[in-house]
Amino acid sequence: MNSRTKKDNIHEQQQALDREPISAAYSWPEKESKKMTIRNNDEISRRRTFAIISHPDAGKTTLTEKLLLFGGAIQMAGAVKARKAKQFAASDWMAIERERGISVTTSVMKFHYSDAEINLLDTPGHQDFSEDTYRVLTAVDSALMVIDGAKGVETQTRKLMEVCRIRNTPIITFINKLDREGREPIDLLHDIENTLQIECVPFTWPIGMGKSFRGVYDLAQKELRLFQAGSETRPQDIVTIHDLSSPKLDELLKSQASDLRDDIELLSGAANPFELEQFLRGNQTPVFFGSALNNFGVKELLDAVIKLAPQPQPRATATRMVEPQEEAFSGFVFKIQANMDPAHRDRLAFLRICSGRFHRGIKVMHHRVGREMVIKDATIFMAQDRTNTEEAFPGDIIGIHNRGTLKIGDTITEKEPLQYLGIPNFAPALFKQVILRNPLRAKQLKKGLQQLTEEGTVQVFRPLLNGSEYILGAVGALQFDVTMSRLRDEYGVEASYNPVDFASARWLVSDNKEDLDKFTRRHQSKMAYDAEDHLTLLVSDLWLLKKTMEEWPNIEFRIFREHSLASTEK
Ligand code: G4P
Repeated sequence: MNSRTKKDNIHEQQQALDREPISAAYSWPEKESKKMTIRNNDEISRRRTFAIISHPDAGKTTLTEKLLLFGGAIQMAGAVKARKAKQFAASDWMAIERERGISVTTSVMKFHYSDAEINLLDTPGHQDFSEDTYRVLTAVDSALMVIDGAKGVETQTRKLMEVCRIRNTPIITFINKLDREGREPIDLLHDIENTLQIECVPFTWPIGMGKSFRGVYDLAQKELRLFQAGSETRPQDIVTIHDLSSPKLDELLKSQASDLRDDIELLSGAANPFELEQFLRGNQTPVFFGSALNNFGVKELLDAVIKLAPQPQPRATATRMVEPQEEAFSGFVFKIQANMDPAHRDRLAFLRICSGRFHRGIKVMHHRVGREMVIKDATIFMAQDRTNTEEAFPGDIIGIHNRGTLKIGDTITEKEPLQYLGIPNFAPALFKQVILRNPLRAKQLKKGLQQLTEEGTVQVFRPLLNGSEYILGAVGALQFDVTMSRLRDEYGVEASYNPVDFASARWLVSDNKEDLDKFTRRHQSKMAYDAEDHLTLLVSDLWLLKKTMEEWPNIEFRIFREHSLASTEK
């Protein structure tokens, strides 16, 4: 939204939605394309890998369910919740989430819609979300942001958007619950723009809300979509209205027709035109209004994801950019699910494929350990099932069973030694000190914490002044409960927590060794090593940190740390 007058705004949106699917818009240089197989290209261009981000209760689960219904991946509403409940029974530590009625794990749902292959990644939605929630966003090419129309931008959405910013992930916005009284639409757009620093371009505009909600006007298609509670938009409820001054509008909307005209007039003067480039850079977000519960506006949203959201994108490694169309297979691990089978301490590594084609039995290099591995079985996650897959393509997420060889941030490729970037540890916001009840179990505690750190369950810091002490860091409080419960059940360690007065952490990096040593000596009581021996400052006061950073311009205070840079940042 801005104060510039842009008459062509609506026309641009029309063009964006009318044009060929994004696959056609992304053509690769001729010489590159020679290397690629036509089939791979086709598979890549059909894929959309995205996550839904929202604050709890905004309607993420409801919307996910409706999207899956459209894709024919589930047959009835309620299945997603039921599926989650079933999964909880799978292991002991998951009992925590069952007890608390929340979802700790992120899951992947694959489904077809139209000609597209969709990988929808779920993010845990409770206030006690974990680093897994953040990390899921490193594996997607775009995100769908759900906002409760009565509440506007809430804390968790803000935090998740900060993570999206790291890679400039394109965002599509859905303003939900229009069937309830909420905030004025224009107010909501201002809120999104001011709080999240992203420009809004409405693609649909609501007519009334709550009891007087009549539907939306589709600015690009110039269609009125009339709302009927409890049913999805049906063909007879869609009326084409090219000219808003048409008396047909008054006939259909009565007194609300003039409100709509006023709103659209206001918008055409205030909203910037949609620019695909700006959207793909994460600077602009197309906005849709609707009601997930009533399945209203959901199909339009899904169509927009297919047309606007990017296909699998090139990814940065420590040495070069990798194009998805490259022939050699490569991917990175962004999540570990432990205890798939508690009897065998096995782990399922979630791997995002970045290039090439996966096929069963593929030989790959696991570069961190410098070992070859053959992937005999890979799980693909359909909405209600997990199945072994014969092949998979860039954008897909596959699950690889392993006994602890794969860690978060690991890269595997067919040959070339690559390290994918952008799968970081995020600065924790919560800290606790571990108190071991039985000192004879110190070894088990060390081993347990090492493994739990590798799985991304929690972060561990050892203070410089006392290397045998453990301070745990997390972004969500539940991570502490899960850690304690797993230490007890899997490693036989009885421990408790002491509160500690830290609010964040920063990883310190500097070319100036002298300054770094000086800083370390001066702030010894707050310095620690993380699980991979990186120097970390534990921060008690964020305001003071700002001042400290100004005082030490030769030192970088990083808010996240790449897993894969383990050996280079020391
Ligand atoms: P979440 O995953 O983001 O946490 O939200 P979820 O979908 O569980 O939705 C939170 C509540 O909001 C649910 O009500 C859900 O039915 C309601 N809701 C979602 N979309 C809409 C909508 O478009 N309109 C209205 N009026 N409500 C909506 P609940 O009572 O907490 O749960 P339930 O008993 O309905 O499952």
